[in-house]
Amino acid sequence: MPATTASPRSETPADHAPAAATADETLQDRARAAAREGVTHPAGAPDFGALLRQDPEIAGVLLGESARQSDGLQLIAAENFTSPAVLAALGSPLGNKYAEGYPGARHHGGCEIVDLAERIAVERAKALFGAEHANVQAHSGSSAVLAAYAALLRPGDTVLAMSLPHGGHLTHGSPANFSGRWFDFAGYGVDEETGLLDYDAIRELARARRPKAIVCGSISYPRHLDYAAFRDIADETGAYLIADVAHPMGLIAGGVAPSPVPYAHVVCGTTHKVLRGPRGGMLLCGAKLAERIDRAVFPFTQGGAQMNAVAAKAVAFAEAATPAFGAYVRQVVANARALAAALADQGLTITTGGTDTHLITADPTPLGLDARTARGRLAAAGIVLDTCALPCAQGAAARRTGLRLGTAAVTTQGMAEAEMTQVAGLIAAALREDGAARRETVALVHRFPPYPAHG
Ligand SMILES: Cc1ncc(COP(=O)(O)O)c(C=O)c1O
Repeated sequence: MPATTASPRSETPADHAPAAATADETLQDRARAAAREGVTHPAGAPDFGALLRQDPEIAGVLLGESARQSDGLQLIAAENFTSPAVLAALGSPLGNKYAEGYPGARHHGGCEIVDLAERIAVERAKALFGAEHANVQAHSGSSAVLAAYAALLRPGDTVLAMSLPHGGHLTHGSPANFSGRWFDFAGYGVDEETGLLDYDAIRELARARRPKAIVCGSISYPRHLDYAAFRDIADETGAYLIADVAHPMGLIAGGVAPSPVPYAHVVCGTTHKVLRGPRGGMLLCGAKLAERIDRAVFPFTQGGAQMNAVAAKAVAFAEAATPAFGAYVRQVVANARALAAALADQGLTITTGGTDTHLITADPTPLGLDARTARGRLAAAGIVLDTCALPCAQGAAARRTGLRLGTAAVTTQGMAEAEMTQVAGLIAAALREDGAARRETVALVHRFPPYPAHG
């Protein structure tokens, strides 16, 4: 599935941006002057009052969702509370701008300002992850994976990835997804007893199937991946290594999880989740693949970049480079470890016996509950999390389902280890259908508002 059109960089740009440094300085002068003058937002910035007057139906949805987020315990491993600064960029007039192409080589006029946003985002992403090249235009994690496949594979190619029942994402070969329809996926799994990846088994499978690419990454694996081992297997079998680190991207940025950048040919990720930026995707690679990756994103799989999201990604990358972000991700992991231990004390079985990351998978069957019933009881108490597949024997008659929890959102709210013990107690109480669980959950989360300035 190669990109067939000419490089967007080789086309005649519709407009020529002024030299970045000059334009950037002028814009920074403007921002400094606005700060001196007490300007709070640019023309066209979100005005909730206007929405309230014009469209109470949708304004009510916004208010309802905002209340739902602060009145419950948000333990969905893929979610977080992004900063007001990120939200400001996301809800800005940059969303009005069409910008097909790349900075300096756009198919639309008037891109000289948004070009700066993308250049800044790319430079910040490269510095944050130590990568030679970054593409920040992918609309989502799935779009990033699609672009990686488009850059490296042809339809029908064999690809190895974690099988879906063991924690692979839909884009890793699900028959319901383009990946399973267009490529020949072979799934590797985890050891059923330990829940850990068996790298010898992956090597054997790669030797037998000779894939064009090996994908490493998961929606529910709670342990660090051994990227060097994956690369070694890929090199031995002549495959590309694609790391889909949608989940641990923020942990990698903050230095508490190993980086795939030195090992993977292409790294795909999301900018939301632990990274705490806007909903979106990104790709990292070496200089050699840069052109192919860019063309696979635009024009092969996407149209115009969402420049408000690109600017919001830049804001998130700058936040992720601060010492405060490092402290946050360390706390995310400490909280996940504390929560896993406390849930085990409450009688749940924790897959792999714990976690290295923000993510925990737990089996509630020792408490006499299946995961769906458990999720329903937790939801009734205001505790929001996901179910997920649990590893089970190949060909087992019944698939096992467990609970998936993450600690990024509660950590952003300011919760620490003491609160994780309390959270485990609330989960156990909710699973027993203890009527006090809902009230106590609300009392806990109201001590930690996600947006304190707004109460
Ligand atoms: C490993 C992995 N890849 C890809 C994705 C897709 O991300 P998105 O929902 O932004 O398309 C996810 C989302 O959870 C994921 O966990």
